Amino acid sequence: MTAWIAFSVNGRAVDVEVDPMRRLADVLRDDLGLTGTKIGCDAGDCGACTVRLDGRQVCACLVPAAQAAGADIRTVEGLAAGDGGRGGEPREHADLAALQRAFLTTGAAQCGICTPGMLMAADDLLDRTPAPTDAEVRDALGGVLCRCTGYRKILEAVAEAAAAAAAEVVAEAATGAVPGGVTTPPQPSPSRGEAVGARLAKVDGVGRVDGTAHFGADERPEGMLAVRAVRSPHARARFTIGDVDELRARHPGLVKVLVAADIPGQNRYGIYATGKDQPVLAEGLVRHRGEAVCALVAEEAVLEAIDDAEVPITWEPLPPIVDMAGAIVPGAPALHDHAPGNVLVAGRLARGDVEAGFNGNVAAAVAEIEVETTFLEHASIEPEAGWARRVGDRVEVVVSTQAPYMDRDEVALILGIAPDRVRIVPTACGGGFGGKLDLSVHGLVATAAWLTDRPVRAVWTRPESMAASPKRHPARIRAAAATDAEGRLTAFRFHGDFDTGAYASWGPTVANRVPVHAMGPYAVPSVLATTRAIHTNNPPAGAFRGFGVPQAAIAHEALMDDLAAQLGIDALELRHRNALRAGSVTATGQVLRASAGLPACLDALRPHWTRLRAETRAWNDDAVARGGPSRRGVGIGAMWYGIGNTSIANPSTIQIGLDSSAVVTLYSGAVDIGQGASTVLTQIAADALGVPAATVRLVTGDTDRTLDAGKSSASRQTFVSGNAARLAGENLRRELLRLAEVGPDAEIELGDGRATLREPDRVPVTIDLAELPEVRVGGAGDVAVILGTGAFDPTTTPLDADGQGIPYETYAFGAQLALVEVDLELGTTKVLRIVAAHDVGRAINPTQVEGQVHGGIAQGLGLALMEAYVPGRTENLHDYLIPTIGDAPEIDTILVEDPEPSGPYGAKGVGEPALVPTAPAILGAIRDATGARITRLPATPDRVLAAIRAPADR
Ligand code: FES
Ligand code: FES
Repeated sequence: MTAWIAFSVNGRAVDVEVDPMRRLADVLRDDLGLTGTKIGCDAGDCGACTVRLDGRQVCACLVPAAQAAGADIRTVEGLAAGDGGRGGEPREHADLAALQRAFLTTGAAQCGICTPGMLMAADDLLDRTPAPTDAEVRDALGGVLCRCTGYRKILEAVAEAAAAAAAEVVAEAATGAVPGGVTTPPQPSPSRGEAVGARLAKVDGVGRVDGTAHFGADERPEGMLAVRAVRSPHARARFTIGDVDELRARHPGLVKVLVAADIPGQNRYGIYATGKDQPVLAEGLVRHRGEAVCALVAEEAVLEAIDDAEVPITWEPLPPIVDMAGAIVPGAPALHDHAPGNVLVAGRLARGDVEAGFNGNVAAAVAEIEVETTFLEHASIEPEAGWARRVGDRVEVVVSTQAPYMDRDEVALILGIAPDRVRIVPTACGGGFGGKLDLSVHGLVATAAWLTDRPVRAVWTRPESMAASPKRHPARIRAAAATDAEGRLTAFRFHGDFDTGAYASWGPTVANRVPVHAMGPYAVPSVLATTRAIHTNNPPAGAFRGFGVPQAAIAHEALMDDLAAQLGIDALELRHRNALRAGSVTATGQVLRASAGLPACLDALRPHWTRLRAETRAWNDDAVARGGPSRRGVGIGAMWYGIGNTSIANPSTIQIGLDSSAVVTLYSGAVDIGQGASTVLTQIAADALGVPAATVRLVTGDTDRTLDAGKSSASRQTFVSGNAARLAGENLRRELLRLAEVGPDAEIELGDGRATLREPDRVPVTIDLAELPEVRVGGAGDVAVILGTGAFDPTTTPLDADGQGIPYETYAFGAQLALVEVDLELGTTKVLRIVAAHDVGRAINPTQVEGQVHGGIAQGLGLALMEAYVPGRTENLHDYLIPTIGDAPEIDTILVEDPEPSGPYGAKGVGEPALVPTAPAILGAIRDATGARITRLPATPDRVLAAIRAPADR
């Protein structure tokens, strides 16, 4: 039943005929086209849908349309003046509201999916409380989750907007001027040659703050169908699908019920050529809860009317393998033929005589530990979404992704067509963190579009996303380390089992990356590190920021603390003494040439370490005197991280074109998942070419318009694609200078279809670009008159059977301190401050780097204290806890720039490194505060209390 409901949106009267119980969020997005309001959960948990209703922030997914009758609704599209809040093209920078501008310039919007909700919550706050305290901001924004930023820059942006508004009021009082201008100064545009190192606002940032950026769920192609997978409620079961004629008769609009046999090509996908083990639709057997068994294709309204329980599926549940121990016992059912004993892959690194290193003649101190971690969910605020259409004998998939070229090849296999008949068009990506490196909706939307010849769209619900997407690998780690009397590491032993769940996904990557990093960022002469990725009937575990290294770091950093305590050596100094540095030989036998800045990071932390520990001791003395229940502690964690893929090819190719109207376009296949790749690559390319960054246009990700720059993962885009962008810029510059016959230092000036080359004491040379022949760029009609191409593949070697070789060309290093307060009665832990020092080689954009550090810290905090995915139990953002703005600690970020000679302008990467040392530092701080050694994560209050009360386990 529908009714006409009238209200106003952004000052414009609207009248819609809808079901009165329809969610306001859907009315805004689907009926009014205001897709600036985002959907992250449809359950009131994430706040992405926050709008203002009669001034007050509300979750639009919880408000029935009837409740909006007569109300004044404000959405992100209405924040800035100009077009009546109808949305459309991104605004000019100067047209943004002060709050939007503050978000843009401070870097408060990374992927941007939470940004509209944050802005509306902040807008509500600032209207009511023009000069809010930090606590008031946290309170007002507490209902909006952000998975990218760690909230620090959001707090900064709101404070900046409030200060700007206050300054405006003062100015108005002093001058009588009418307010209305934006007081936040515009972002300075770096001149030519000055982009690298500048705090440039995100080049794709305006759409993030004005609601015009299109994410995976924001497009509704004309004439579209929708596809929804029917998923298994069982972790392991056989099944048969009965006759669906009755279902079709009940729902005449049901266009198709897709089953495995309908997949046109190969019903198998997976990351590695040898590991394509995951079916798009299961073939009579499901291996994990949430696996898709069939899919319904229909118009949305028809689909919504069908209950999955109506689909005639007969289940034969089988006993599932619920953990790794059960997977490797003799007689355990094998999940896959290619993984005997359910071991998908084993990793190994062996160097030196480990037994001798632990021998009492050498070892003055020995420490051992066992660590257990659990499944973690990426919890990107944007669930997986996209759509596909058939275009002649090709298919186009418009999707939120981290890896367009890998997607292209996978979709081609699924459809049984050549890769060049598949076009992947990435949307804005509302958070990835590794979770969008695997296929999600791709296989089904492509298949359904291919078979029906209509556009087909899929948007996963939050529970579906959590049930079906890959997770962080749970780990069981045993490790031991020994030092001599001076505290020099003599030997390290490590074994880690990683639950890779039902399918391979990125399990081999984890099993092979971890042994290289297992001993931490330290020089150890003797190492034995082994790993196994083990199949179970749990969800597939794949890539998640760090590929197993964060789990390993928990073990090696606890060992360093133990050794320091045994030896009576300061924990920071012990790390410093053993830190890898230029000239060190790693456990794979690689000599670090340069840019190994861990000692510098530790030096930078030392004064903070000394001060925080002194303050903590004084605070605790006072707490004891007061009889207070809480104690404070300080911990330290250190890390290293190989940039890019482990020991395999890792190429990136970028192009930059100059067209006949003198516009420069960067054609980058590197997807920006919020981490700032587009901005950083623009900065690098602009400086390499010698033009202002603001003049460079960007085409990104589209496989018809760009070349393969590889996936956005492994912290590789700044280093690998950054080098490709630099080479492309230099290539174009060389060609332009050659045409003009000028020297290498000539200045380039572009405009009005001409390139003018200037040199001191010479008449400028002008090239009329329209007179040059056009060259095609890619397959979608882009042309240039001069095209620069740059390709880069880091120098690595395969690892031998003992893990010896050069797995990465360069490594990021870092260390963090954590200050925590633990309630000894409740077991709760509050992280008060993190001091983070990271060697990034060169900060191409310090604002973006800080944002990555903050975001990594927040995810490390979640790993340490609260996050635990349990299939069937935590499949929403209410039960699966991620850090909120209330959990965000103070963060001091110290950027150490130890230039990497092979990096673009010296840069390395920081996306994953920032997360790695956080959990070890927090756990160390809990131990410092309480004496309790937490070895099973997350350190929930019950576990902390149990550890406090179990002195034998300390
Ligand atoms: S979509 Fe409304 S709260 Fe998440
Ligand atoms: S910027 Fe907040 S979720 Fe990505």
